[in-house]
Amino acid sequence: MMQIVENIAELQCVLTRWRQAGESIAFVPTMGNLHAGHMSLITAAHAKAARVVVSIFVNPTQFGPGEDFEAYPRTLQADTQQLVDNAVDCLFLPSKEIMYPAGASTHITVAGLSEQYCGASRFGHFSGVATVVAKLFNIVQPDVALFGEKDFQQLVVIRKMVLDLNMPIALQGVATVREADGLAMSSRNGYLTPEQRKNAPLLYQCLCAARDQLLAGMTDYHAISAEYTEKLNVAGFEADYFAVCRAEDLQPAQPEDSRLVILAAAKMGKPRLIDNIRVDLPRSG
Ligand code: PAF
Repeated sequence: MMQIVENIAELQCVLTRWRQAGESIAFVPTMGNLHAGHMSLITAAHAKAARVVVSIFVNPTQFGPGEDFEAYPRTLQADTQQLVDNAVDCLFLPSKEIMYPAGASTHITVAGLSEQYCGASRFGHFSGVATVVAKLFNIVQPDVALFGEKDFQQLVVIRKMVLDLNMPIALQGVATVREADGLAMSSRNGYLTPEQRKNAPLLYQCLCAARDQLLAGMTDYHAISAEYTEKLNVAGFEADYFAVCRAEDLQPAQPEDSRLVILAAAKMGKPRLIDNIRVDLPRSG
């Protein structure tokens, strides 16, 4: 039976019992409005540990002024059912007051990785993410935590935080789950009008086409970025960035780099869609 707990002391009682029984703990932090992408994190979590804990908390500190914090879809009843159906052991549902008691004033910023790409247009976003994830890690103290690769920059930021702060937690990225037409699953896809939804897969199509150019040996990364930025804008997107980066640290890719990721973000009407594709080039160095 899935336990639903709303406060930290109660959660820690449950976790202590499991740890004393020698059971390992996998943790999947979420903001709810769960879809197949989240379920793939939960499936991967079951493969990693005896117990799976999921949190649902729409974290206010990672939304900027004018962003969709108030409108963010909250679908607790359907989410709970999906978690039960997927054999989650514990759902942690903290309130804002529990996560951010009055007077809390400590923030975590992973400098260097947080200001570019999504961080450039969503000022403070990754600081909000790093702070809430660090707090959730301290509360749950999991053996392993799982994050979707769709939010690739988020995953790189969290990896660096865990490394820099010596957090004893293994991280696992899980492949993006896509709709049949290639659109990456996201809670924000629900904001798309039917017309926008039809056009939205172009973002992933551009990533695939750019990946093919890299695999064919093209090394003019600026030209690739310019070509697809233009293509997206002509098709009605408002491209934010389309960048070929080193997968490890998101620095602009150099011709000698072989482990790459192409990161893209573009507004399509109301929502800002993000996606990425990994490219491993067969070259040494
Ligand atoms: O990816 C998300 O849903 C959120 O950024 C996270 C990691 C749960 C932190 O609020």
